[in-house]
Amino acid sequence: MKTLLSKEELHDGVTRMADEISKCYENRQLTIVGLLTGSVVLMADLIRMIDLPMRVGVLQASSYRGATTTRGELVINSELMLDISGRDVLLVDDIFDTGHTLVRTLEKMRDFGPTSIKSAVLLRKNGRQEIEFTPDFVAFDIPDEFVVGYGLDYEDMYRNLPFLAALEPADIARHKEVMAAATQL
Ligand code: IMP
Ligand code: MG
Repeated sequence: MKTLLSKEELHDGVTRMADEISKCYENRQLTIVGLLTGSVVLMADLIRMIDLPMRVGVLQASSYRGATTTRGELVINSELMLDISGRDVLLVDDIFDTGHTLVRTLEKMRDFGPTSIKSAVLLRKNGRQEIEFTPDFVAFDIPDEFVVGYGLDYEDMYRNLPFLAALEPADIARHKEVMAAATQL
């Protein structure tokens, strides 16, 4: 796989973003919410770098599609969500691609009455946005390539890679071979 961001580059970018967040919320308490599953690696690093008193939670959002090709409604699993009413909230996700997931999740979260709500993403993919919106904190802008590692997956694999890699056609062919071998009973 082609490395797009090394472990060291990721560390530097996340440190920079954590510093910006610490400054932005100085002297306040933060409620930081990670979108499952892609944000788990970023969350683990980011929350230890932010110098603020904080509450930490996760959220699962699923987009249900019907028989049509239209975008399905985004459903939040609120059982997992901690109470955000009257709180300064930061929603964290792995990547801002078309933008629909983040923007629609923020809209749903506003219904729970936070005092403020901002967003932070590890990556923003150039030329892919379908929505006029800018996340408040972005660690890296990347070219329009499918990426894996540091939390991001392809068919739920590769999230554990400590670097960020672009998945190319040869990698996908190899992936299919590995999966076929692993699932033979
Ligand atoms: P959206 O298009 O901004 O709504 O992004 C939705 C989700 O697609 C992200 O949270 C990721 O889970 C996934 N995604 C988008 N681009 C990539 C990629 O390059 N690699 C892995 N997952 C991606
Ligand atoms: Mg994903």
